[in-house]
Amino acid sequence: MITPVDPTTTQAWAALAALKDQLHPDLRTWFDEQPNRAEEFTFDVADLHVDLSKNLVDADVIDALLRLADEVDVAGRREAMFSGEHINVTEDRAVLHTALRLPRDAELVVDGQDVVADVHEVLDKMYAFADKVRSGEWVGVTGKRIETVVNVGIGGSDLGPVMVYEALLPYKQDGIACRFVSNIDPSDCWEKTHDLDPETTLFIIASKTFTTLETLTNARMARAWLLRELAASGAVDGSDEQGRDAVAKHFVAVSTALDKVADFGIDPANAFGFWDWVGGRYSVDSAVGLPVVLSIGPDGFRDFLSGFHAVDEHFRTAEPGTNVPLLMGLLNVWYVNFLGAESHAVLPYAQYLHRFAAYLQQLTMESNGKSVRWDGTPVTCDTGEIFWGEPGTNGQHAFYQLIHQGTRLIPADFITVANPAHPVKDGDADVHGLFLANFFAQTAALAFGKTAEEVRSEGTAENIVPARVFQGNRPTTSIMAPALTPSVVGQLIALYEHITFVQGVVWGIDSFDQWGVELGKKLAMEIAPAVSGDAEALVAQDGSTQSLVSWYLKNRT
Ligand code: F6P
Repeated sequence: MITPVDPTTTQAWAALAALKDQLHPDLRTWFDEQPNRAEEFTFDVADLHVDLSKNLVDADVIDALLRLADEVDVAGRREAMFSGEHINVTEDRAVLHTALRLPRDAELVVDGQDVVADVHEVLDKMYAFADKVRSGEWVGVTGKRIETVVNVGIGGSDLGPVMVYEALLPYKQDGIACRFVSNIDPSDCWEKTHDLDPETTLFIIASKTFTTLETLTNARMARAWLLRELAASGAVDGSDEQGRDAVAKHFVAVSTALDKVADFGIDPANAFGFWDWVGGRYSVDSAVGLPVVLSIGPDGFRDFLSGFHAVDEHFRTAEPGTNVPLLMGLLNVWYVNFLGAESHAVLPYAQYLHRFAAYLQQLTMESNGKSVRWDGTPVTCDTGEIFWGEPGTNGQHAFYQLIHQGTRLIPADFITVANPAHPVKDGDADVHGLFLANFFAQTAALAFGKTAEEVRSEGTAENIVPARVFQGNRPTTSIMAPALTPSVVGQLIALYEHITFVQGVVWGIDSFDQWGVELGKKLAMEIAPAVSGDAEALVAQDGSTQSLVSWYLKNRT
């Protein structure tokens, strides 16, 4: 195993620490003194136009960050990932989500297996299935075509598909709608199914492991609902044979554990596989994206995958100084480790991206929320900042106050598109133009602020001048694309996957395991009998848990 380099012992780290002490970030002055700053710090990657110029860096900082990347060998680790080395050390696995979007004629043999052929075999099966459902050739047990697809999954088996489905609603086929059940709170399953017609509903049970408590519980509830409702309407007679037939027509599965899928009663012919080298949070471009294929169709999904691949190629081959995922990952390191940022806002000015921040929370925080390195030794600096966000302009009327005038440094990514799916004129007003004016205004206000003199010059009473001053120098990155196409959504996801990777390499952590979610899962299974009234199990719990469970048992009706 290659030992991770301790970033804090590198020369670049020392240089960055010194630069931090000397640097007095002043975006107003920097833009005045460098008329080309915007051009110098703006890069085009596939369809993404990325402006880094409003970040708190000068050329010396960028230079030192790139030297840091060199000293911790980001390039070597990147090559190891793309070539299928087992860089997920704690699970001894390759990390090959980039293989999911390789073109059919590419070659990649990993652990003796041609993974490109495997990937395209599953894609072809997904496309053939989607064509049948979309054309109405696939029918339910009573001969009706499918109108609603309910994806049952959680974490990576939910957040990716729901985010992308919502992002690409303008590309959705009429007549087929998707819903997503994830929470084990029974209200979720009830809300998503109670008004559906079972005869026209298809369930996708998506679980990489096919052992996840929430998903298997919801899957069983969905199966019971389907059989109960079909029997109630007389569509099936309640016999085992008709039940099996109904499940075969109304349930498909996505998993790496196809044996467990069969045990659940789903026909292996209706199961779509993937591989242990695809992490859950990196899986929306695998069979986990089946709801997306059903919604936007095979051509749309091909376009989606081509967007990922374009950014993969950029990340793999672009020179460090123009490599956007590398630069953005290093900027995040600068903010976390040198300027003390604890969180990072992601603010899409695109309503269709309203689940993007939630999606990124799993991608970034399940990946980099670690305190040990891949060799088991403690990390030597802060890791994993908190990602959060909401679409603009909604956020402007909620939390932007704190970003503008609070005491914390919150780097923010602003994302938008030039052409909306539904251009609207309200009289003479160009509504999308107004929307974008807000996008541009916010990043300018955050960067350049408003001085006391400027506030006074507006005739503001002296006693409220301080409250109306904006310090500025609040860093932002602006990302624009021509339109929110399937390819652009793929590009955005791949961009953040690689940013996350770069940060993980600098910190020396395994960004591909998630042991931190295990303890809570195990305890839930131990506490479950106590919650069901088992007195012995109750006394085995800690004092607080006993007291909380007892209150619950007294108060449930
Ligand atoms: O939360 C832990 C986790 O393992 C995630 O990494 C994963 O995306 C999620 O649970 C769901 O897992 P599965 O797809 O195996 O049901």
